[in-house]
Amino acid sequence: MSHKVTLLSNDLEFEVPTGQTILEAALNNNISFPHRCQVGACAMCMCRKVEGEVSYHLDPVLTDREIQRGWIFPCQAYAETNLKLTFEE
Ligand code: FES
Repeated sequence: MSHKVTLLSNDLEFEVPTGQTILEAALNNNISFPHRCQVGACAMCMCRKVEGEVSYHLDPVLTDREIQRGWIFPCQAYAETNLKLTFEE
């Protein structure tokens, strides 16, 4: 099973298979998704979820306000539904 991710700011789509993080799936699809540490520490990969749900094995450090505004850590996040993401604030 997989979910579709639409990157609104880049007008790109890719599939995230169950068990892969959003970042892993993007890199497997040769999408140049910003990243560095891949462990939820550098915040390079952060983007905003406009639509859909994600889950984490370990909750990342985000304030309530950031969560409310949709910020996620794609290197740690698994897609629970189809997603629409943007790099724009
Ligand atoms: S790649 Fe560093 S926080 Fe996601």
